[in-house]
Amino acid sequence: MLLESPPKLSSLRKVFVSPDQQGRSIGNELIKRTIAHAETSGASNRVLITFSFNTVSQGLYIRHGLLPRFPIYNVSASREQVIGHLHGPRYDVTPLRPEASTLRRLAQADERILGVSREKHHRYLINDGAATGFNLLDGNDWIGYAYVDAGGHIGPLAVTEPHAVAPALRTALYLAAESDASRISAFLPGASKAALDTTMALRMRIKCPMLLMSS
Ligand SMILES: CC(C)(COP(=O)(O)OP(=O)(O)OC[C@H]1O[C@@H](n2cnc3c(N)ncnc32)[C@H](O)[C@@H]1OP(=O)(O)O)[C@@H](O)C(=O)NCCC(=O)NCCS
Repeated sequence: MLLESPPKLSSLRKVFVSPDQQGRSIGNELIKRTIAHAETSGASNRVLITFSFNTVSQGLYIRHGLLPRFPIYNVSASREQVIGHLHGPRYDVTPLRPEASTLRRLAQADERILGVSREKHHRYLINDGAATGFNLLDGNDWIGYAYVDAGGHIGPLAVTEPHAVAPALRTALYLAAESDASRISAFLPGASKAALDTTMALRMRIKCPMLLMSS
């Protein structure tokens, strides 16, 4: 579960109740307390991703005011598969560095694209070293950013213009294909035709259908 509080973000993941204790309102109470806790820190909007086939979690979240918005697809393919099919325009890249000017630019872009700043998230990703971040450049114009981790997973990725989705994703796929990872994967918003078309053309496979829910 992602609890969003402009300009801050806080998150809770992996809600789990022991199978022998399920159906006794424990999950309900956990969600209630989590939301109450988030409200004390000023969170005004709540967002989460759950499995599309999880009827219990969806029913529970709906009861707490989080409604289904759009599907999220976890897609994946072998590195060879991606390399074998990948073609088309891509952007130039430079590494993301934890400089104040870079973090300011990322925060401004996210505020425009998402309505919230993710500065803390970027600082964590850039400094943690678990993923490598890149500026995406269309000639001299900064068009967005992409992260690729050592396991071949792409994301987060964001662009400032809708037409940039396909070349940006293609760029990230090239970057992931240059790594040693045996598989390449990404979470895609089901609302983005460009993202789905790009990955399905590569014969990437949907591994897990998920759902974005929000208040
Ligand atoms: C999801 C999970 C946390 C729920 O915890 P829980 O303690 O069993 O749930 P509760 O008893 O508090 O609440 C169950 C509620 O789910 C909802 N629900 C259950 N099945 C439902 C269905 N088929 N349709 C709609 N709503 C449903 C109802 O609101 C129900 O409450 P009610 O029985 O009073 O009507 C628990 O099942 C779990 O740990 N599952 C495995 C891990 C998991 O899937 N986590 C969620 C990942 S996002």
